[in-house]
Formats: sequence, C-alpha cells, structure tokens
Amino acid sequence: MTSRTADQTQLDQSSGPVYRLRLATGSDWADIVALEMASFDHGRWSEQLWREEIAAADSDRGRLVSLIEQVTASTPIDSQSGPLVAVATWSWLDEVADLRRLSVHPDHRRAGLATRLLENGCQQASQAGVQRVLLEVSARNTAAISLYQRVGFTTIAVRPDYYGLGDDAWVMERSS
Ligand SMILES: CC(C)(COP(=O)(O)OP(=O)(O)OC[C@H]1O[C@@H](n2cnc3c(N)ncnc32)[C@H](O)[C@@H]1OP(=O)(O)O)[C@@H](O)C(=O)NCCC(=O)NCCS
Repeated sequence: MTSRTADQTQLDQSSGPVYRLRLATGSDWADIVALEMASFDHGRWSEQLWREEIAAADSDRGRLVSLIEQVTASTPIDSQSGPLVAVATWSWLDEVADLRRLSVHPDHRRAGLATRLLENGCQQASQAGVQRVLLEVSARNTAAISLYQRVGFTTIAVRPDYYGLGDDAWVMERSS
C-alpha cells in the first residue's frame, strides 16, 4: 500500500456539488468500470484492466490512480461514499510521466474536475522527480484537446491512424 496522502483533499466548491479527490483502492474497480461505461462510447478499458491498474498503483510508487467522488459536506474524510465521478491514472519512470486514462462522468463535466485531476497528478509526479508529462489523444477529441491545451500541454507529434484509419493520435507534452 502506498503511503501517499494527497488523496484526502476536499475540493473547494463554494456552491453546488461537493467533490473530494482521493486515491483509488481495491474496492473502487466496479465504480470505475461503471464510470468507464458512461464516459466512453468505444475503446473501453475492461474490468480486468482496471483491476490491474489499481493493483499496480497500490504496489508501485511510479503509478497513480486518483479519483473524485461526490460527497456531502458532512461526509467523514475517511469514508468512501461515492458516487465516483472522475478518474485519472498515471505512470512515471525517472523524469517522464504518462497520463494513461482520464474521464469525467457526463453529468459532472465542465466543473473543473479533469483540470483538478491533471494538476494533482502533475504535482505528484513532479514531487517524484518527473519533469515532462506526456499523453496521447485522438485528434477528433476536441473536448480533451481543449482541456489539455488549457492546462499547458502542446502537441509534439502526430501518430497517423493510431486509433484506426483516419483517426490520428496527437502526442502532447507539458512540464510537470
Ligand atoms: C475531456 C474531459 C475529461 C473533460 O473533463 P471536464 O471535467 O469536463 O473538464 P474541465 O471542467 O476541467 O474543463 C476545463 C477546460 O477544458 C476545456 N473543455 C473541457 N471540455 C470541453 C468541451 N466539451 N468543449 C470545449 N472545451 C472543453 C474548457 O476550456 C474548460 O474550461 P471551461 O469549462 O471554463 O470552458 C471529459 O469531457 C471526458 O471525460 N470526456 C470523455 C473521456 C475522454 O475523452 N477522456 C480523455 C481521453 S484522452
């Protein structure tokens, strides 16, 4: 089990829903798979893949799965109350980190949750010595590209047909 404690962060919400960012645990996989189903039309990660992702983050300090759940103002800080509304998973080695997956439930988009997960992941990677953060995104995914550009990522390469014929991948980078 990792000793990182940056998960216990109550997000600042002056009005509207209250969200909490925390590390994923072994009991979160089913909720993460449900979020995956709601967030992606195709190319979904399987239950097995998510189980392995969480297990890796639990045992490897170069892996991170963080999530955001909706809570009430009175939810105890150490309870897992859900519902889970956003997730991000990362890996890093030496000075380079990769964003492996990011999704926000459709009902909770445009509330800054992806931005919060990105900044938190970059901060944790930076504390581990990472200097560059990389990701791949479909050139067709204009929402994600807008998000990544807004938080400082720039396109450094294009991988033609990476996601299928006519569906290029953009490789994007920012400093951590
Ligand atoms: C892409 C995604 C993660 C964005 O999550 P989010 O929590 O809504 O993003 P944020 O609220 O942090 O957005 C921050 C900024 O990104 C940009 N942005 C986000 N979604 C956008 C959209 N649909 N259209 C245009 N710009 C968008 C905006 O500049 C936004 O700021 P604003 O709301 O003040 O205009 C979410 O739409 C999602 O889960 N999509 C499906 C899964 C996916 O594509 N994942 C990424 C794969 S690489």
